[in-house]
This record gives sequence, structure tokens and C-alpha cells, in this order.
Amino acid sequence: MKDDWITINRNAYIKAAPFYFNRSHKYELADRGLLGHFLLEQFLLRPSVPVPTILDLGCGTCRRAKIMRNTGASVTVLDFCPPFIRYAKRNGFECIDAEFKTAEIDLSYHHYFTGVHCGSFLHQFPPKDIPFILNKIKQLLQPGGFLFVGEPIEKENKGWQRVQKDIHSQEYHYKTIQIRDWWIRRINRFFTLRSLIMDVDVIAEGKYWWNGVWQVRI
Ligand SMILES: C[S@@+](CC[C@H](N)C(=O)[O-])C[C@H]1O[C@@H](n2cnc3c(N)ncnc32)[C@H](O)[C@@H]1O
Repeated sequence: MKDDWITINRNAYIKAAPFYFNRSHKYELADRGLLGHFLLEQFLLRPSVPVPTILDLGCGTCRRAKIMRNTGASVTVLDFCPPFIRYAKRNGFECIDAEFKTAEIDLSYHHYFTGVHCGSFLHQFPPKDIPFILNKIKQLLQPGGFLFVGEPIEKENKGWQRVQKDIHSQEYHYKTIQIRDWWIRRINRFFTLRSLIMDVDVIAEGKYWWNGVWQVRI
């Protein structure tokens, strides 16, 4: 049986999906700034392969998946929310319809991807599950492959909380609220930090995000 928080989070995203789609053009514009540059230069171009194979976890409206595909990467996406899954398929993405924690990812994907992209994704999991999730991501990456992580920055560690959604204010979901260094310490156990930037999210009224690129630690 699935954890109840997964059902709550999935239902919150189903209800919030129209709001994400309405704002996706604004997010796409924001991505053309510092973060877009960062994605291209630091993440996609690092693997020395002709065509990077990227897995976008929690693809949402596919805004990052589209940027990555437009630069020539082969992008597979994953999401657990039906409206986003339908959208991804309509837009020609190979889409894994799965809840990431419990899903058995096809074994053929093991050590397949040159890069895994997690944009505002990891904070959807309870803090105790983060090492499990990171280890699972590592198993999907080729030796030397890259991980992109972007998460909102908080002033203090507050752990796992039921919060009102930023965008669809009527909906509640669960997320883990931590400072940047909390994330970095955990990710560093499995990956080697390559670059780290701070970014201002112009859509969510000036909230700060941190974005980093890590390489698989062999
Ligand atoms: C905050 S949105 C970010 C979307 C996109 N990455 C972006 O940056 O615009 C989080 C996405 O992750 C998906 N998601 C959350 N928890 C998930 C899980 N456990 N398994 C699969 N997808 C999940 C949601 O449906 C949603 O599309």
C-alpha cells in the first residue's frame, strides 16, 4: 500500500496542474537567463558523448526537458501526475509513468543515463528517504555521469511538513524544508560537487533556489 503522503502530493499536483501550465511560459522565460545557461554549460555539455541521455525526474510541464531536447539531448521524463504524463507524451517524450520511490525502474535503465535532472523534485520526499533516493539515482547513471539538482532555499531546517502549495494556494502537500547545506552534505555522500549557483526565482516572488551539478562518485 502506498504511503498516504504520496497520494496527497499526487492529488495536489493533479489539482495544481492547470496553474503550472498557465505559468509555464513565464518559467520558460526565466530559464533563458542564468539557469538556462547553467544547464547547458555545466550539465548537458559535461558528458563527453555525442548525444547525452538525460532522465528528467518530476518533469512537470517539461520546460527543462524541452530545453535539454532542443540542445540535442535524448530526454526521457518521469512523473506520477496524469496531466503532466499526458502532456509529455503528446509532446513526443518517452515518459515513465511512475512514483519514483516505490517504482521498479526498468532494469535496462540501470547505468544508462549520462545525466539525471531533478528540478524542484527531491524536496517532495521525507528527509529520511533522501539517501535512498540519491542512491537510486546513482544506479541509473553511467559511471562518471552527472546529476543536476535545483531546490528552494530555506532559512532554517524544518524537516518534513504539510504546507500550502505556493502556486495553487488552496492545496496542501508535503515537502521537506531544509537549508542548502543540508542538501549538499547528503548529496556529497554519493556524488562529487562540480558547480553550484544561487538563482532568484522570478515567478515565485523572489524566492531563492540553489542549483548544483554533481558527478557520480566512483
Ligand atoms: C515542483 S514540480 C517541478 C516540475 C519541473 N521539474 C519544473 O522544474 O518545472 C514537481 C514535479 O514532480 C512530480 N513528482 C512529485 N513527487 C513525485 C514522485 N514521488 N514521483 C514522480 N513524480 C513526482 C510532480 O507531479 C511535479 O510534476
